[in-house]
Amino acid sequence: MLKHEAINGIKNIFAKTFGESGNIIVSRAPGRVNLIGEHTDYNDGFVFPMALDFQILVAARKNDSETVRIYSSDFDQTVEFSLKQPIQYDQEKRWSNYLRGVLVMLQEKGVKLCGMDIAFQGNIPQGSGLSSSAALEVATVVMAQKLLGFKIEKPELVKLCQRAENKFVGMNCGIMDQFISMMGEQGHALFLDCRSLDYKLVPLELGDCRIIICQSGVKHTLVDSEYNKRRQECEQGLAILARHFPAIKALRDAKMEQLEALKSEFNPVVYRRCKHVITEDDRVLASMNALSRGDLKSFGQFMNASHDSLRDDYEVSCPEIDLLVRLAREVRGVLGSRITGGGFGGCTVSLIEAKAEAEFSEHIRKNYQTTTGIIPQIYISTAASGAAIIA
Ligand code: GLA
Repeated sequence: MLKHEAINGIKNIFAKTFGESGNIIVSRAPGRVNLIGEHTDYNDGFVFPMALDFQILVAARKNDSETVRIYSSDFDQTVEFSLKQPIQYDQEKRWSNYLRGVLVMLQEKGVKLCGMDIAFQGNIPQGSGLSSSAALEVATVVMAQKLLGFKIEKPELVKLCQRAENKFVGMNCGIMDQFISMMGEQGHALFLDCRSLDYKLVPLELGDCRIIICQSGVKHTLVDSEYNKRRQECEQGLAILARHFPAIKALRDAKMEQLEALKSEFNPVVYRRCKHVITEDDRVLASMNALSRGDLKSFGQFMNASHDSLRDDYEVSCPEIDLLVRLAREVRGVLGSRITGGGFGGCTVSLIEAKAEAEFSEHIRKNYQTTTGIIPQIYISTAASGAAIIA
Protein backbone atom coordinates (compact mmCIF):
# COMPACT_ATOMS: atom_id res chain seq x y z
CA MET A 1 0.00 0.00 0.00
CA LEU A 2 1.25 3.50 -0.76
CA LYS A 3 2.32 5.48 2.26
CA HIS A 4 -0.30 8.24 1.97
CA GLU A 5 -3.10 5.70 1.49
CA ALA A 6 -1.97 3.87 4.58
CA ILE A 7 -1.85 7.10 6.57
CA ASN A 8 -5.29 8.17 5.40
CA GLY A 9 -6.64 4.73 6.16
CA ILE A 10 -5.54 4.67 9.79
CA LYS A 11 -6.46 8.35 10.30
CA ASN A 12 -9.98 7.63 9.06
CA ILE A 13 -10.28 4.69 11.42
CA PHE A 14 -9.07 6.90 14.24
CA ALA A 15 -11.47 9.73 13.39
CA LYS A 16 -14.45 7.37 13.14
CA THR A 17 -13.67 5.94 16.57
CA PHE A 18 -12.55 8.99 18.50
CA GLY A 19 -13.65 12.02 16.44
CA GLU A 20 -11.79 14.27 14.05
CA SER A 21 -10.55 17.20 16.09
CA GLY A 22 -6.94 17.78 17.11
CA ASN A 23 -3.60 16.66 15.87
CA ILE A 24 -3.36 12.94 15.13
CA ILE A 25 0.10 11.44 14.85
CA VAL A 26 0.85 8.14 13.12
CA SER A 27 3.72 5.73 13.72
CA ARG A 28 4.60 2.62 11.79
CA ALA A 29 6.73 -0.42 12.62
CA PRO A 30 7.46 -3.38 10.36
CA GLY A 31 7.36 -7.13 10.86
CA ARG A 32 10.49 -9.09 10.04
CA VAL A 33 11.81 -12.22 8.46
CA ASN A 34 14.96 -13.75 9.84
CA LEU A 35 17.30 -14.91 7.08
CA ILE A 36 19.55 -16.94 9.38
CA GLY A 37 20.42 -17.17 13.08
CA GLU A 38 17.47 -18.81 14.84
CA HIS A 39 17.20 -19.24 18.60
CA THR A 40 20.60 -17.64 18.99
CA ASP A 41 19.51 -14.20 20.24
CA TYR A 42 18.77 -15.28 23.82
CA ASN A 43 22.08 -17.12 23.87
CA ASP A 44 24.00 -13.88 23.26
CA GLY A 45 24.62 -14.97 19.66
CA PHE A 46 24.17 -13.64 16.14
CA VAL A 47 21.11 -13.04 13.97
CA PHE A 48 20.52 -11.71 10.48
CA PRO A 49 16.93 -10.51 9.99
CA MET A 50 15.41 -7.94 7.66
CA ALA A 51 12.33 -5.73 8.08
CA LEU A 52 9.31 -6.41 5.87
CA ASP A 53 6.81 -4.27 4.02
CA PHE A 54 4.15 -5.68 6.33
CA GLN A 55 3.57 -3.28 9.18
CA ILE A 56 1.55 -2.01 12.10
CA LEU A 57 0.26 1.55 12.01
CA VAL A 58 -0.63 3.32 15.23
CA ALA A 59 -2.55 6.62 15.25
CA ALA A 60 -2.80 8.58 18.48
CA ARG A 61 -3.77 11.84 20.12
CA LYS A 62 -3.72 13.18 23.68
CA ASN A 63 -7.21 13.38 25.14
CA ASP A 64 -6.86 15.75 28.12
CA SER A 65 -7.93 13.09 30.59
CA GLU A 66 -6.28 10.36 32.59
CA THR A 67 -7.80 7.62 30.50
CA VAL A 68 -6.18 5.59 27.76
CA ARG A 69 -8.53 4.30 25.07
CA ILE A 70 -7.30 1.86 22.46
CA TYR A 71 -9.11 0.62 19.39
CA SER A 72 -7.86 -2.40 17.46
CA SER A 73 -9.18 -2.22 13.93
CA ASP A 74 -8.21 -5.84 13.20
CA PHE A 75 -10.20 -7.16 16.18
CA ASP A 76 -12.78 -4.36 16.04
CA GLN A 77 -12.53 -4.02 19.81
CA THR A 78 -11.85 -1.19 22.20
CA VAL A 79 -10.27 -1.17 25.64
CA GLU A 80 -10.19 1.64 28.12
CA PHE A 81 -8.24 2.04 31.35
CA SER A 82 -7.45 4.77 33.83
CA LEU A 83 -3.93 5.95 34.59
CA LYS A 84 -4.99 6.68 38.17
CA GLN A 85 -4.49 2.98 38.96
CA PRO A 86 -1.68 0.64 37.97
CA ILE A 87 -2.15 -0.68 34.42
CA GLN A 88 -3.40 -4.27 34.59
CA TYR A 89 -2.93 -7.30 32.34
CA ASP A 90 -6.07 -7.92 30.25
CA GLN A 91 -7.11 -11.58 30.20
CA GLU A 92 -9.79 -11.04 27.57
CA LYS A 93 -8.48 -8.55 25.05
CA ARG A 94 -5.02 -9.97 25.03
CA TRP A 95 -3.95 -7.93 22.02
CA SER A 96 -4.01 -4.88 24.28
CA ASN A 97 -1.28 -6.28 26.53
CA TYR A 98 1.44 -5.39 24.05
CA LEU A 99 0.48 -1.72 24.30
CA ARG A 100 -0.23 -1.90 28.03
CA GLY A 101 3.16 -3.55 28.58
CA VAL A 102 5.00 -0.79 26.73
CA LEU A 103 3.18 1.90 28.72
CA VAL A 104 4.00 0.12 32.00
CA MET A 105 7.68 -0.12 31.07
CA LEU A 106 7.69 3.59 30.20
CA GLN A 107 6.26 4.35 33.64
CA GLU A 108 8.99 2.19 35.19
CA LYS A 109 11.53 4.33 33.33
CA GLY A 110 10.02 7.40 34.95
CA VAL A 111 8.03 8.64 31.94
CA LYS A 112 4.86 10.45 33.00
CA LEU A 113 1.98 9.21 30.88
CA CYS A 114 -1.15 11.17 30.04
CA GLY A 115 -4.56 10.22 28.70
CA MET A 116 -4.52 9.29 25.05
CA ASP A 117 -6.65 7.79 22.32
CA ILE A 118 -4.98 5.17 20.16
CA ALA A 119 -6.15 3.26 17.09
CA PHE A 120 -4.06 0.68 15.30
CA GLN A 121 -4.18 -1.60 12.32
CA GLY A 122 -1.78 -4.06 10.79
CA ASN A 123 -1.22 -6.28 7.79
CA ILE A 124 1.36 -8.63 9.32
CA PRO A 125 -0.24 -12.07 9.34
CA GLN A 126 -0.73 -12.93 13.02
CA GLY A 127 0.71 -16.12 14.45
CA SER A 128 2.86 -16.46 11.35
CA GLY A 129 6.23 -15.92 12.97
CA LEU A 130 6.71 -12.57 11.23
CA SER A 131 6.70 -10.63 14.51
CA SER A 132 3.43 -8.76 14.57
CA SER A 133 3.77 -8.50 18.38
CA ALA A 134 7.17 -6.88 18.28
CA ALA A 135 5.96 -4.48 15.58
CA LEU A 136 3.02 -3.47 17.76
CA GLU A 137 5.29 -2.82 20.73
CA VAL A 138 7.75 -0.84 18.67
CA ALA A 139 5.06 1.21 16.90
CA THR A 140 3.56 1.96 20.33
CA VAL A 141 6.81 3.15 21.88
CA VAL A 142 7.64 5.32 18.86
CA MET A 143 4.17 6.85 18.98
CA ALA A 144 4.46 7.43 22.75
CA GLN A 145 7.81 9.13 22.36
CA LYS A 146 6.42 11.57 19.82
CA LEU A 147 3.27 12.24 21.83
CA LEU A 148 4.97 12.64 25.22
CA GLY A 149 8.32 14.02 24.09
CA PHE A 150 10.64 11.99 26.37
CA LYS A 151 14.26 11.36 25.44
CA ILE A 152 15.35 7.73 25.34
CA GLU A 153 17.79 6.40 22.74
CA LYS A 154 16.59 3.81 20.26
CA PRO A 155 18.52 0.80 21.64
CA GLU A 156 17.00 1.52 25.06
CA LEU A 157 13.54 1.70 23.50
CA VAL A 158 14.18 -1.66 21.88
CA LYS A 159 15.09 -3.20 25.24
CA LEU A 160 12.06 -1.59 26.82
CA CYS A 161 9.81 -3.27 24.24
CA GLN A 162 11.49 -6.61 24.88
CA ARG A 163 10.90 -6.13 28.62
CA ALA A 164 7.24 -5.39 27.93
CA GLU A 165 6.97 -8.75 26.20
CA ASN A 166 9.08 -10.66 28.76
CA LYS A 167 7.68 -9.16 31.94
CA PHE A 168 4.18 -8.01 31.06
CA VAL A 169 3.01 -10.31 28.27
CA GLY A 170 4.95 -13.29 29.65
CA MET A 171 6.76 -14.43 26.50
CA ASN A 172 10.44 -14.82 27.22
CA CYS A 173 11.62 -13.71 23.76
CA GLY A 174 15.07 -12.47 22.82
CA ILE A 175 15.83 -9.08 21.35
CA MET A 176 15.93 -9.78 17.62
CA ASP A 177 12.36 -8.92 16.63
CA GLN A 178 12.10 -5.60 18.41
CA PHE A 179 15.60 -4.66 17.29
CA ILE A 180 15.03 -5.16 13.58
CA SER A 181 11.57 -3.59 13.72
CA MET A 182 13.14 -0.44 15.16
CA MET A 183 16.47 -0.36 13.32
CA GLY A 184 15.82 -1.91 9.92
CA GLU A 185 16.71 -0.02 6.78
CA GLN A 186 15.34 -0.25 3.28
CA GLY A 187 17.35 -2.55 1.04
CA HIS A 188 19.36 -3.89 3.98
CA ALA A 189 19.37 -6.85 6.29
CA LEU A 190 20.81 -6.36 9.77
CA PHE A 191 23.60 -8.37 11.32
CA LEU A 192 23.22 -8.15 15.09
CA ASP A 193 25.51 -9.26 17.87
CA CYS A 194 22.92 -9.90 20.55
CA ARG A 195 25.46 -9.58 23.36
CA SER A 196 26.90 -6.15 22.62
CA LEU A 197 23.97 -5.00 20.45
CA ASP A 198 26.56 -3.84 17.91
CA TYR A 199 24.99 -4.14 14.51
CA LYS A 200 25.73 -3.71 10.87
CA LEU A 201 23.26 -2.89 8.13
CA VAL A 202 24.23 -5.09 5.20
CA PRO A 203 23.04 -4.12 1.70
CA LEU A 204 21.08 -7.05 0.33
CA GLU A 205 22.65 -7.35 -3.06
CA LEU A 206 20.86 -10.37 -4.37
CA GLY A 207 21.33 -9.78 -8.09
CA ASP A 208 19.02 -12.18 -9.87
CA CYS A 209 17.86 -13.80 -6.66
CA ARG A 210 14.80 -13.15 -4.54
CA ILE A 211 13.72 -13.81 -0.99
CA ILE A 212 10.37 -15.56 -0.80
CA ILE A 213 8.27 -16.17 2.28
CA CYS A 214 5.77 -19.03 2.37
CA GLN A 215 3.15 -19.02 5.07
CA SER A 216 2.22 -22.52 6.21
CA GLY A 217 -1.13 -21.46 7.63
CA VAL A 218 -0.21 -23.31 10.82
CA LYS A 219 -0.36 -20.84 13.70
CA HIS A 220 2.54 -21.23 16.01
CA THR A 221 0.42 -21.62 19.13
CA LEU A 222 2.87 -23.83 21.00
CA VAL A 223 5.42 -21.16 20.73
CA ASP A 224 5.16 -19.70 24.26
CA SER A 225 5.48 -22.87 26.28
CA GLU A 226 7.88 -24.72 23.99
CA TYR A 227 9.94 -21.59 23.45
CA ASN A 228 10.38 -21.04 27.17
CA LYS A 229 11.28 -24.73 27.51
CA ARG A 230 14.01 -24.38 24.86
CA ARG A 231 15.43 -21.48 26.79
CA GLN A 232 15.59 -23.57 29.95
CA GLU A 233 17.31 -26.40 28.09
CA CYS A 234 19.92 -23.94 26.83
CA GLU A 235 20.47 -22.77 30.40
CA GLN A 236 20.92 -26.34 31.59
CA GLY A 237 23.52 -26.94 28.90
CA LEU A 238 25.26 -23.68 29.68
CA ALA A 239 25.52 -24.61 33.36
CA ILE A 240 27.46 -27.80 32.50
CA LEU A 241 29.73 -26.06 30.00
CA ALA A 242 30.44 -23.15 32.35
CA ARG A 243 31.37 -25.51 35.18
CA HIS A 244 34.20 -26.90 33.08
CA PHE A 245 35.05 -23.82 31.05
CA PRO A 246 34.49 -20.73 33.22
CA ALA A 247 35.06 -18.40 30.25
CA ILE A 248 31.77 -19.59 28.77
CA LYS A 249 29.19 -17.04 29.89
CA ALA A 250 26.57 -17.91 27.29
CA LEU A 251 26.26 -20.61 24.59
CA ARG A 252 27.66 -18.06 22.18
CA ASP A 253 31.07 -18.57 23.83
CA ALA A 254 31.04 -22.37 23.49
CA LYS A 255 32.74 -24.35 20.73
CA MET A 256 31.65 -27.71 19.35
CA GLU A 257 34.88 -29.33 20.64
CA GLN A 258 33.99 -28.27 24.18
CA LEU A 259 30.48 -29.64 23.85
CA GLU A 260 31.83 -32.90 22.42
CA ALA A 261 34.35 -33.23 25.23
CA LEU A 262 31.52 -33.10 27.77
CA LYS A 263 28.97 -35.10 25.81
CA SER A 264 28.75 -37.90 28.38
CA GLU A 265 27.58 -35.40 31.02
CA PHE A 266 24.74 -34.17 28.84
CA ASN A 267 21.25 -35.46 28.58
CA PRO A 268 20.87 -36.12 24.83
CA VAL A 269 18.12 -33.54 24.35
CA VAL A 270 20.09 -30.77 26.02
CA TYR A 271 23.16 -31.80 24.01
CA ARG A 272 21.23 -31.41 20.76
CA ARG A 273 19.82 -28.02 21.79
CA CYS A 274 23.32 -26.75 22.51
CA LYS A 275 24.65 -28.25 19.30
CA HIS A 276 22.06 -26.31 17.33
CA VAL A 277 22.90 -23.01 18.97
CA ILE A 278 26.66 -23.41 18.64
CA THR A 279 26.51 -24.50 15.00
CA GLU A 280 23.89 -21.87 14.14
CA ASP A 281 26.13 -19.06 15.40
CA ASP A 282 28.91 -20.44 13.20
CA ARG A 283 26.52 -20.55 10.26
CA VAL A 284 25.52 -16.92 10.71
CA LEU A 285 29.15 -15.82 10.66
CA ALA A 286 29.93 -18.04 7.69
CA SER A 287 26.92 -16.80 5.77
CA MET A 288 27.90 -13.18 6.40
CA ASN A 289 31.23 -14.05 4.89
CA ALA A 290 29.59 -15.72 1.92
CA LEU A 291 27.36 -12.71 1.34
CA SER A 292 30.30 -10.33 1.41
CA ARG A 293 31.89 -12.43 -1.37
CA GLY A 294 28.62 -12.39 -3.31
CA ASP A 295 28.47 -16.16 -2.84
CA LEU A 296 24.71 -16.68 -2.64
CA LYS A 297 25.02 -20.38 -3.34
CA SER A 298 26.86 -20.91 -0.06
CA PHE A 299 24.45 -18.59 1.71
CA GLY A 300 21.61 -20.84 0.55
CA GLN A 301 23.43 -23.93 1.77
CA PHE A 302 23.80 -22.38 5.21
CA MET A 303 20.06 -21.67 5.21
CA ASN A 304 19.42 -25.33 4.43
CA ALA A 305 21.75 -26.50 7.17
CA SER A 306 20.05 -24.10 9.57
CA HIS A 307 16.68 -25.64 8.84
CA ASP A 308 17.94 -29.18 9.24
CA SER A 309 19.43 -28.29 12.59
CA LEU A 310 16.22 -26.58 13.76
CA ARG A 311 14.24 -29.62 12.65
CA ASP A 312 16.48 -32.36 14.05
CA ASP A 313 18.41 -30.84 16.94
CA TYR A 314 16.31 -27.94 18.19
CA GLU A 315 13.02 -29.59 17.23
CA VAL A 316 11.03 -26.45 16.56
CA SER A 317 9.71 -27.35 13.11
CA CYS A 318 6.50 -29.17 12.26
CA PRO A 319 5.41 -31.47 9.41
CA GLU A 320 3.78 -28.69 7.37
CA ILE A 321 6.87 -26.50 7.52
CA ASP A 322 9.13 -29.44 6.69
CA LEU A 323 6.93 -30.12 3.69
CA LEU A 324 7.21 -26.51 2.50
CA VAL A 325 10.97 -26.70 2.82
CA ARG A 326 11.14 -30.04 1.01
CA LEU A 327 8.95 -28.80 -1.84
CA ALA A 328 11.01 -25.62 -2.15
CA ARG A 329 14.24 -27.58 -2.39
CA GLU A 330 12.79 -29.72 -5.19
CA VAL A 331 12.65 -26.70 -7.48
CA ARG A 332 15.69 -26.04 -9.62
CA GLY A 333 17.01 -22.55 -8.89
CA VAL A 334 16.21 -22.66 -5.18
CA LEU A 335 19.43 -21.92 -3.32
CA GLY A 336 18.13 -22.48 0.20
CA SER A 337 14.99 -22.80 2.27
CA ARG A 338 14.36 -22.85 6.01
CA ILE A 339 11.87 -22.20 8.77
CA THR A 340 12.00 -18.64 10.08
CA GLY A 341 11.09 -17.22 13.51
CA GLY A 342 10.21 -18.96 16.74
CA GLY A 343 8.91 -22.14 15.09
CA PHE A 344 6.09 -24.67 15.47
CA GLY A 345 4.38 -23.36 12.35
CA GLY A 346 4.55 -19.92 10.81
CA CYS A 347 6.63 -19.32 7.70
CA THR A 348 9.57 -20.49 5.67
CA VAL A 349 12.05 -18.21 3.96
CA SER A 350 13.69 -19.25 0.71
CA LEU A 351 16.41 -17.78 -1.45
CA ILE A 352 15.67 -18.45 -5.10
CA GLU A 353 16.75 -17.39 -8.55
CA ALA A 354 14.20 -14.99 -10.03
CA LYS A 355 13.72 -17.20 -13.06
CA ALA A 356 12.54 -20.03 -10.82
CA GLU A 357 9.78 -17.94 -9.26
CA ALA A 358 6.82 -19.14 -11.33
CA GLU A 359 7.73 -22.80 -11.01
CA PHE A 360 8.38 -22.38 -7.30
CA SER A 361 4.94 -20.89 -6.65
CA GLU A 362 3.16 -23.47 -8.75
CA HIS A 363 5.00 -26.42 -7.24
CA ILE A 364 4.35 -25.26 -3.69
CA ARG A 365 0.74 -24.20 -4.22
CA LYS A 366 -0.23 -27.47 -5.85
CA ASN A 367 1.59 -29.97 -3.68
CA TYR A 368 1.22 -28.24 -0.34
CA GLN A 369 -2.52 -27.98 -0.71
CA THR A 370 -2.88 -31.56 -1.91
CA THR A 371 -1.16 -32.90 1.17
CA THR A 372 -2.32 -30.51 3.87
CA GLY A 373 -5.56 -29.05 2.52
CA ILE A 374 -4.16 -25.60 3.31
CA ILE A 375 -3.60 -22.93 0.67
CA PRO A 376 -0.16 -21.47 1.34
CA GLN A 377 0.42 -17.74 1.05
CA ILE A 378 3.53 -16.83 -0.89
CA TYR A 379 5.17 -13.40 -0.73
CA ILE A 380 8.18 -11.95 -2.43
CA SER A 381 9.72 -9.63 0.05
CA THR A 382 12.13 -6.77 -0.13
CA ALA A 383 13.88 -5.28 2.87
CA ALA A 384 11.87 -2.38 4.28
CA SER A 385 12.83 0.38 6.69
CA GLY A 386 12.39 0.32 10.45
CA ALA A 387 9.94 2.16 12.66
CA ALA A 388 9.18 5.84 12.18
CA ILE A 389 6.66 8.58 12.72
CA ILE A 390 5.00 8.95 9.35
CA ALA A 391 2.40 11.65 10.07
C1 GLA B 1 10.98 -15.47 18.32
C2 GLA B 1 11.59 -14.54 19.38
C3 GLA B 1 12.97 -14.06 18.97
C4 GLA B 1 13.87 -15.23 18.55
C5 GLA B 1 13.15 -16.14 17.57
C6 GLA B 1 13.94 -17.38 17.26
O1 GLA B 1 10.73 -14.74 17.15
O2 GLA B 1 10.75 -13.43 19.59
O3 GLA B 1 13.55 -13.32 20.03
O4 GLA B 1 14.32 -15.92 19.67
O5 GLA B 1 11.88 -16.53 18.04
O6 GLA B 1 15.11 -17.07 16.60
